Amino acid sequence: MKRVRAAIVGSGGMGHARAAHLSLDDRAQIVCVSSRNPVTGRALAERFGVECVEGWEHLVQRDDVDAVCVATHNDSHAPIARAALEAGKHVLVEYPLALDVADADQLIDLASRSGLVLHVGHDQALVGWHLAIKQEAAALGRLLAVNSVLATPTRGGGRSVWRNVKLSGPPFIVGIAYVFHLLDAFGPMEWVDGTSTYEGLEDSGYYRSSVSTLTASFVNGGVAQLLYIRGFTVPRDEQEQAMMFSDGFLSYRGYVSGSPTNEGHLTRVTRAGVQRLDFPAVTLAVASRQNTEHFLSEVLDGVPVVPPTRTSRDAVAVAFAAEQAAQERGRVYLGRTPERQVR
Ligand SMILES: NC(=O)c1ccc[n+]([C@@H]2O[C@H](COP(=O)([O-])OP(=O)(O)OC[C@H]3O[C@@H](n4cnc5c(N)ncnc54)[C@H](OP(=O)(O)O)[C@@H]3O)[C@@H](O)[C@H]2O)c1
Repeated sequence: MKRVRAAIVGSGGMGHARAAHLSLDDRAQIVCVSSRNPVTGRALAERFGVECVEGWEHLVQRDDVDAVCVATHNDSHAPIARAALEAGKHVLVEYPLALDVADADQLIDLASRSGLVLHVGHDQALVGWHLAIKQEAAALGRLLAVNSVLATPTRGGGRSVWRNVKLSGPPFIVGIAYVFHLLDAFGPMEWVDGTSTYEGLEDSGYYRSSVSTLTASFVNGGVAQLLYIRGFTVPRDEQEQAMMFSDGFLSYRGYVSGSPTNEGHLTRVTRAGVQRLDFPAVTLAVASRQNTEHFLSEVLDGVPVVPPTRTSRDAVAVAFAAEQAAQERGRVYLGRTPERQVR
């Protein structure tokens, strides 16, 4: 069987995670890694017994590499993915796909013209709570409204690359997994409104905390309201989500990010009564490995890209539209033609 010869750029949490998944799969072989951090780059290379290449520009050009995993910070996803695609490599890029919608479109176009796989690491799309909401939503009729509150902890309280608008993008880009969740569960959006408040925003792009809101209308009907609070001292990520449908009501309260246990409460209310629902037993760690495995199937067997890269692109568009609406104090239309579907 042909093996995918893979290279990894970035030597942090996701670089290690993707390398671990690849090393456990017979269909893949890690060839080399690269990172701008020589210490952690070498440590990653040593852990998997592979070469550490200086500079991703060299790594993407290598003839012995079929696929590149881009696990760097958000501001370098698009340039590295583009260079890899231009060099004829398949790409697994961590979210967000890009920090600009035009870049996201260009990457999709490049991959499709070259017949290469462009897969975004939206692992949360395979996690139990998301799958359960998606499945229940499909059986409850038309969506009327979804309302979510998300809180993300400071993780130590110091400066963080994830609270820097220049390096990581605005809050809904950092929290793009939640935006992706809404799009994957309820379909594309037609317009977006938003507010965005930063505490301690510096010229360098760093800020202490933020409060952002997003209001959106779905192409297929129904509205979304999302409140996203970052940088406050809470012990863990929290999410509450209320979903109203023509035939019932769903409510979710849980731990959405990095949960080892996939814990949370999902309740369904219909004419038949109130029922607490179980999730598929898929934690984020399991989902992440499944996502890497799916990437290998796409490269080797031509299996369709799931989750679709188009949804990853739309998530970037929605996240930036929320920030644009906040800055310009006006609704942003996403250019999607309403195409009402009967559910
Ligand atoms: N799927 C998921 O569940 C999930 C979870 C967390 C994060 N993510 C996404 O994955 C990405 C990586 O997150 P992480 O948690 O792994 O971050 P991290 O632990 O900070 O690691 C990022 C790594 O990339 C390196 N790097 C940054 N910019 C680079 C560049 N221009 N060229 C080469 N190397 C560069 C960093 O080097 P330095 O040491 O020099 O900074 C570091 O080694 C993020 O975009 C994030 O949105 C996904």
